[in-house]
Amino acid sequence: MRKNDVKDVKACRICKQKKLYKFLDLGKMPIPNGFLKKEDLKKFEEKFELSCFFCKYCGLIQLSKVVNPSLLFKNYVYIPSIAKVMMNNFSNLSHQIYKEQKLNASSLVVDIGSNDGSLLTFFKNYGTKVLGIDPAINLVKVARMKGIPSESKMFNVKNARLIKKKYGSANVITATNVIAHIDDLHQVFKGVSYLLAKNGAFVTEFPYLLDLVKKNEFDTIYHEHLSYFSLKPWRRLVDQYGFEIVSAQRLLVHGGSIRLIHKWKSNKKNPANKTVHYLISLEKNYNLYSKKTLSGFAKKVENLKYDLTTLLKTIKQEKRRVVGYGAAAKGNVLTNYFRITNKILDYIVDSTPYKQGLFTPGTHIPVVGENILHHDNPDYILILAWNFADEIMEKERAFRKNGGKFIIPIPEVKIL
Ligand code: TMP
Ligand code: ZN
Repeated sequence: MRKNDVKDVKACRICKQKKLYKFLDLGKMPIPNGFLKKEDLKKFEEKFELSCFFCKYCGLIQLSKVVNPSLLFKNYVYIPSIAKVMMNNFSNLSHQIYKEQKLNASSLVVDIGSNDGSLLTFFKNYGTKVLGIDPAINLVKVARMKGIPSESKMFNVKNARLIKKKYGSANVITATNVIAHIDDLHQVFKGVSYLLAKNGAFVTEFPYLLDLVKKNEFDTIYHEHLSYFSLKPWRRLVDQYGFEIVSAQRLLVHGGSIRLIHKWKSNKKNPANKTVHYLISLEKNYNLYSKKTLSGFAKKVENLKYDLTTLLKTIKQEKRRVVGYGAAAKGNVLTNYFRITNKILDYIVDSTPYKQGLFTPGTHIPVVGENILHHDNPDYILILAWNFADEIMEKERAFRKNGGKFIIPIPEVKIL
């Protein structure tokens, strides 16, 4: 390991306080999207600590280490456009924002973490100007090929300045499933403050901590996700930069997320206060910010490990075959932590072309296309991309018709 590969988190990312309490330790893990080529299977795999801190002062949950983003995002294999659910969510988001913000052909929408341009394509189709910004060079190329102007850059104050100079202020800035990836949240907010027009809206979506804790979604905790947000600490952050949350909606995506719309604070009555207060009261009623709740969560993870590994052991003893479905990063967390290796899963089906032909980090399970499954008849499919379980079971209904069974691991082990 080189010196700059990983650094310790010494103070809370939002409030800078140093009273951090560790409540979950998943041990050392390979980088969750670090799929391997066949020729690399024998090589040494770097592993990094994966454990979570709770800030007693503001309530933010965060990883204890930050792995250098250049190791995590250089050749990023995650693309949301594979899943219908994600595309529907983007379609719905763009529709809502286009209407509510009264956008037109002269409006500029900037997407932070624009990936392959999936979200911006919807805005472009409404006729607005668009600009993507994403450090993953491979995906920026794909986005450009789709006609989405994109810059291969990190979003920070310096780059916000460059963008403003080149393209003007943004009427809308979107950031879906990316804020949790960013260590320096203050750079993001400074950048947004610089780039956002006076009447502009900053729209963000991220997985919601309340859902994560309530539904045992421990496998969504991985090196890429540095923070696990809830409204109480988030509101404190946005407030510091002169924004207010004008709308808070819960979403079903990624096991439960929230969509927040922020505007510059004004003296007008804020109609969203009610929803924001409501969510904060839900967090409080669940005792989300207590050591007891968080250690209880860690305990539930251990129970899940026992339940799933016992089931898989029985299946293997009965000489039945199991394969995985969805080579999601979260699947790599689950399989690595539970030690579900290539001795248990014959392969993992995934429709992402970039992942096929590769092997999962740590557990070395081959990733294959759907066609392999369709010419095979395993007894069980373990749905690792459980957030898309319905979509996957619908797509593979023939498997169940032929007597196959699905195993869904989260929130608790279910056989269908
Ligand atoms: P995610 O939960 O991190 O979005 O990853 C989901 C993975 O599941 C991603 O690699 C794509 C894969 N997937 C399929 O292979 N087929 C499908 O039908 C769906 C919905 C997802
Ligand atoms: Zn804090």
